[in-house]
Amino acid sequence: MKGDIGVIGLAVMGQNLILNMNDHGYKVVAHNRTAEKVDEFLQGPAKGTNIVGAYSLQELVDKLESPRKIMLMVRAGDVVDSFIDKLVPLLDKGDIIIDGGNTNFPDTNRRVAALKEKGIHFIGSGVSGGEEGARFGPSIMPGGSPEAWPFVKPIFQAISAKTENNEPCCDWVGNDGAGHFVKMVHNGIEYGDMQLITEAYQFMKDGLGMTHDEMQSVFIEWNKTELNSYLVEITSDILGYKDTDGEPLVEKILDTAGQKGTGKWTGINALDMGIPLTLITESVFARCLSSLKDQRVEAEELFGKKESIVEGDKQVWIEALRQALLASKIISYAQGFMLMREASNENGWDLNYGNVALMWRGGCIIRSAFLSNIRDAYDIDPELSFLGSDSYFKGILENSMSAWRKVAAKSMEVGIPMPSMTSALTFLDGYTTARLPANLLQAQRDYFGAHTYERVDKPKGEFFHTNWTGKGGDVSSTTYNS
Ligand code: 6PG
Repeated sequence: MKGDIGVIGLAVMGQNLILNMNDHGYKVVAHNRTAEKVDEFLQGPAKGTNIVGAYSLQELVDKLESPRKIMLMVRAGDVVDSFIDKLVPLLDKGDIIIDGGNTNFPDTNRRVAALKEKGIHFIGSGVSGGEEGARFGPSIMPGGSPEAWPFVKPIFQAISAKTENNEPCCDWVGNDGAGHFVKMVHNGIEYGDMQLITEAYQFMKDGLGMTHDEMQSVFIEWNKTELNSYLVEITSDILGYKDTDGEPLVEKILDTAGQKGTGKWTGINALDMGIPLTLITESVFARCLSSLKDQRVEAEELFGKKESIVEGDKQVWIEALRQALLASKIISYAQGFMLMREASNENGWDLNYGNVALMWRGGCIIRSAFLSNIRDAYDIDPELSFLGSDSYFKGILENSMSAWRKVAAKSMEVGIPMPSMTSALTFLDGYTTARLPANLLQAQRDYFGAHTYERVDKPKGEFFHTNWTGKGGDVSSTTYNS
């Protein structure tokens, strides 16, 4: 009997996905560039299963049922192109290549188009959930050649995480690089969620002077509220984890955040598309700032260490912090969905936002109870332009407003950096202000560069220039917006 699917790349994600597919009754053919890895896998974790090995790409191709489905679980970038180049001459028209890595979506756009010309279908799929997710149920976000989806769907939906109603956290996202785009936004949101949690931790530790056991208890409690999520849950575990000397391990970890690039891509895309994705972008910058460790140490000496004590009833502050975190999280997701909406419109992807929320409901790093509410919001209004306008989320934003402002103001007053929580509030203040000071900005542009402006008392699209100084002349520059 031939194999149902081939997987190339036997690093931990690849191995675990294969084992997961095997558990669901699929016959998987496993290949790795280094042959020893195949043997190690077959004699190790895959021993006693139906998994078979392939020591060359030709052997892999020969061992697969038609149309062949070959999933690449290799490092994003050139390695993917190099495997595609080697595979294509061995494949038949209608065969399917799947890239399950964290690929930047323009690469997927390019690969879908290039392979289409050769009659090969290509799927670029986000896979989230880390090692454990891959093994027991990841969130899977496939996009690319729609013709390929019916062949891949049963396998992907079988191995994916399931919601509490047993719905698979995997569905077709859209054409071209839509799957990888949605995975990129997932990761951006992951950056935002993580940053928000770290801001709450710093407020509790430095501001409220709480111990790690106290903070752990707070996160355990928060996890029983609307904040219920994987990231809140692992934070409580981390805060309770003691090093061999009995001290919290987290305080021994160097405070410089790493990043592999997906958050940065999200920010870059937001700038390209003109979407005010402030919270995620602040989270990326917060990681950048953290990595300037030596400069920060010097600057603290230069400016003096801040005494950031927050006075007042601790329990009241903790509840205020919870509300600020929840409200900021709503803004982060609202911004993320705004970005997806814009990308969907620009690229004709026809994204189903309720389905995206469903795919993120389980298995992935940002999985949370909250995503069910997002799904409900898009069920009510599939074209919702701002998540915060949905009645459930609007209610939370309104109820949290006073606590959120108190936390933001206090953080500024005592000098605890909370870039994401404060930028989220600033965003909402801007978004809910009918008249912003951009009129003055337009006047400035027109003053120094004759860039023209529109008037509130004239139809939109009519542009005016004023000779502000009497010396600049009446000629205006061309009007265009990038
Ligand atoms: C996931 C994660 C994963 C990502 C890591 C590390 O969905 O399983 O998003 O894909 O690679 O979270 O990302 P950074 O190194 O950029 O923090």
